[in-house]
Amino acid sequence: MKIAMIGTGYVGLVSGVCFSDFGHEVVCVDKNADKIAALEGGEVPIFEPGLDDLVARNVAAGRLSFTDDIASAVRAADAVFIAVGTPSRRGDNHADLSFVFAASEEIAAALEGYTVVVTKSTVPVGTGDKVREIIDRVNPQADVDVASNPEFLREGAAIRDFMNPDRVVVGVQSARAQEVMTDIYRPLYLREFPVVFTDLRSAELIKYASNAFLATKISFINEMALLCERTGADVKSVARGMGLDGRIGPKFLHAGPGYGGSCFPKDTRALARMGQEYGTPQMITEAVIEANERMKRHMIDRVMEMCGDNVNGRTIAVLGVTFKPDTDDMREAPALTIVPALVGRGARVRVVDPQGRREGDALLPGVAWMDSPYEAAEGADVLMILTQWNEFRALDLKRLAGAMASPRLADFRNIYSAEDAAAAGFESYCAVGRPGRDIAGWGKVKASLTAPVPRQTT
Ligand SMILES: NC(=O)c1ccc[n+]([C@@H]2O[C@H](COP(=O)([O-])OP(=O)(O)OC[C@H]3O[C@@H](n4cnc5c(N)ncnc54)[C@H](O)[C@@H]3O)[C@@H](O)[C@H]2O)c1
Repeated sequence: MKIAMIGTGYVGLVSGVCFSDFGHEVVCVDKNADKIAALEGGEVPIFEPGLDDLVARNVAAGRLSFTDDIASAVRAADAVFIAVGTPSRRGDNHADLSFVFAASEEIAAALEGYTVVVTKSTVPVGTGDKVREIIDRVNPQADVDVASNPEFLREGAAIRDFMNPDRVVVGVQSARAQEVMTDIYRPLYLREFPVVFTDLRSAELIKYASNAFLATKISFINEMALLCERTGADVKSVARGMGLDGRIGPKFLHAGPGYGGSCFPKDTRALARMGQEYGTPQMITEAVIEANERMKRHMIDRVMEMCGDNVNGRTIAVLGVTFKPDTDDMREAPALTIVPALVGRGARVRVVDPQGRREGDALLPGVAWMDSPYEAAEGADVLMILTQWNEFRALDLKRLAGAMASPRLADFRNIYSAEDAAAAGFESYCAVGRPGRDIAGWGKVKASLTAPVPRQTT
């Protein structure tokens, strides 16, 4: 199969490279000429484990190439995938489809011979039909089918996810398109990974439904964590006890500072918007969005509490700012809410992140970037863990506490425990939904056990 991949970002590049590894001939297209020049020079513009090697191998095998000339790539292709961004539209939270529609026009003008145009971008229900309308308008002679093939890979594990998917979802409108899509995914099909063929609109909605459901799990356990903080229960035990129930499962039940990233925030907002537009409000998703915002604010409150409600002039060392480990992606990371709030209150914030600086430099003005947790902790008042990079999982807590001016640990990924922190010499420790120490947090938890819970008046 000859494939053109339009958009060479996290999804387009990984999908394109993996398709070429299946044996297809793939041209990755991007309108960002710098990105293409970098890729042609053997440089991968994003951090994704294993991607450099896979790109090099398939380029060397002659199956993978890069261009900013969309027409030449589309002309030769059996299938054209649209993998451009669909960010939140400013003002109304609808998915911004301008990149998808612009790409569709360019594709339409270049089509030759039978081609399947596939949306891989996450797009609202009905977008495939609009892409079809654009193609019919721009090139009424085109012999084309439109398909939907939403992507479920996770940054940080993108190649593994693409090569070993839980399922592949494909929405088609014709047997001919189904045949092409079957050929493209044959290597996965042969290894018995489920390929779910459905209609276009269902495929489009499966993606939003899946992301909103996962976001719901995260917000649910985060709300349980808040209840744990009031009642003295431990959210890690609660999550384990829940997750062992096969109907629930243990994944996405880790309490933390709120979800972020390039997908969950914008996709939950777009789903909520879709619900409003179709007159069926997605009340659960709307609540999930609000709960997630509250969680980020709660993290700020916890740090303030640790510092006697005043961080002015205090030094706060932040470990991890990317929205999750093993990626350099900073899009909607909780750090982008939490860090500026602390800087705004006069804190001196130091940041350590193995991959976050390239993106984070511009997004986090006023912070000092450090090379290691130990350097960041030197003379600091609070050490805050925001992203659970592996290298933050086995820190020498004693060394960190010893280096700090006032050793306080805000462990917002629940990596350590109050006991670990106390044994290492931390004066105070707070986690998410778990007992803290001293420590402001623990004192408050104990007090809250006896204090009457405010009654709801409505
Ligand atoms: N990032 C993820 O983990 C992930 C996972 C699943 C699905 N998705 C979805 O995949 C889509 C792409 O996401 P991403 O994170 O890869 O985005 P991205 O911003 O990393 O990449 C998009 C790329 O498309 C290019 N582009 C835009 N318009 C173009 C055009 N007309 N012609 C050629 N190139 C063009 C941009 O220059 C950019 O390089 C989104 O809809 C997203 O919701 C993302």
